[in-house]
Amino acid sequence: MIGRLPPLDCARPDRERGQLDRCPQGTIADGSEACKRATDRVVSIRGGVALYLPGAACQACPTCGRTALLRGAGRGVDLLAELCRRKGWQMESALITGGAGFIGSHLAERLLGEGVEVYILDDLSTGQMFNLDAIRDSDRFHLHLGGLDDEQLLMELVDRADVVFHLAAAVGVKLIVAEPVKTIETNIYGTELVLRHCAKKQRKVLLASSSEVYGKGEEERFKEEDDLVFGPTSRSRWCYGCSKAIDEFLGLAYCKARRLPVVIVRFFNIVGPRQVGHYGMVVPRFVQQALDGGPITVYDDGEQVRCFLHVNDAVDAMCALMRSDEAVGEVFNVGSDRPITINRLAEKVRELVNPEAEIVHIPYAEAYAEGFEDIRYRVPDVSKLRQAVGLAPRYDLDRILTDVRHYLSSS
Ligand SMILES: NC(=O)c1ccc[n+]([C@@H]2O[C@H](COP(=O)([O-])OP(=O)(O)OC[C@H]3O[C@@H](n4cnc5c(N)ncnc54)[C@H](O)[C@@H]3O)[C@@H](O)[C@H]2O)c1
Repeated sequence: MIGRLPPLDCARPDRERGQLDRCPQGTIADGSEACKRATDRVVSIRGGVALYLPGAACQACPTCGRTALLRGAGRGVDLLAELCRRKGWQMESALITGGAGFIGSHLAERLLGEGVEVYILDDLSTGQMFNLDAIRDSDRFHLHLGGLDDEQLLMELVDRADVVFHLAAAVGVKLIVAEPVKTIETNIYGTELVLRHCAKKQRKVLLASSSEVYGKGEEERFKEEDDLVFGPTSRSRWCYGCSKAIDEFLGLAYCKARRLPVVIVRFFNIVGPRQVGHYGMVVPRFVQQALDGGPITVYDDGEQVRCFLHVNDAVDAMCALMRSDEAVGEVFNVGSDRPITINRLAEKVRELVNPEAEIVHIPYAEAYAEGFEDIRYRVPDVSKLRQAVGLAPRYDLDRILTDVRHYLSSS
């Protein structure tokens, strides 16, 4: 598969050590105009120095990102192809754990569309076979039904993939409150197994974490370096956020101690077609209630503030981060930074889906369990993500709601 590589940093040749590397035309790889013409040799970066491997065919100019097909054969080409795949620049195959779920199925579609061989491992606990309808017939698509605890299967799949997107998890506030043991087992032991096998095979891995790791912190906009503030262990609601925080610690520890390339994304309310409402996700729940004639049930006073990002935007971010060297060993907020109250969201759903639907408020105790604690304000600071991969969301809330309505009314 040939995709557009991210521009590599060739503007940092180590002049002091005299290691000025030359592009095939004999120009110095320093980001200059001359460098931009260097498009027919493969490039790697070692210690900040751009290396042009003689005899290897072109992947991309490090500065302008122009790409060309790999041609020819030989060790140089093979090594570079391997390097590019391992770094995620040119992934030819990917394993998605939890790929039959909401985000995973959209990611699978995107990767297949880019020519990537996709392997999915999913136990269908919250995922659905019909999420994969659009891709099931592709001969580059391989679905494996099983749990993360099937170590042999996991090992084989990690071995086959160039990179791993680890999305499988016990998800959704309702499920977590109802099944705290399953949450901890899946989210901690499952992630540890994925990391262990990725480390053995040195496969780059992207871990899906959550804004829930910020717990009940009260910042106006959460930054990746903010403190994590959880409630007491007697409230099972916090075990999801804590389990994801432990995943992050594990991922960063594997990165430091075992030199495993790990990228961590903290999702903030990713929404879109295929998300289901019965695990407590607010957008599909409101849209379905409006389609059913109402009422739309808002928990508590409805003044909680949230931001919603279209799943396609989240997939853009995941793919870009997987292909970025700078993202390795880093944590990124992935979400929209346009806040809206839940009351306003309910009104918007009513306007767009069913103006006749009534909006009612019910206490948390009725929706969850007595003593349930929710977070009032959850807005991400996404400047780190923007700086790393330069992405801005393509979809606004109206488009998100329209897509969800279309999906729910046609499924
Ligand atoms: N959607 C969001 O807004 C959001 C927010 C924060 C974090 N996340 C994280 O993103 C990831 C994907 O979430 P999603 O919204 O697509 O949820 P989802 O429930 O649709 O997807 C999770 C998938 O993992 C599978 N799974 C669960 N346990 C498994 C196990 N032990 N073995 C194999 N497969 C298993 C499920 O069947 C499902 O297909 C999760 O890690 C979740 O914690 C999502």
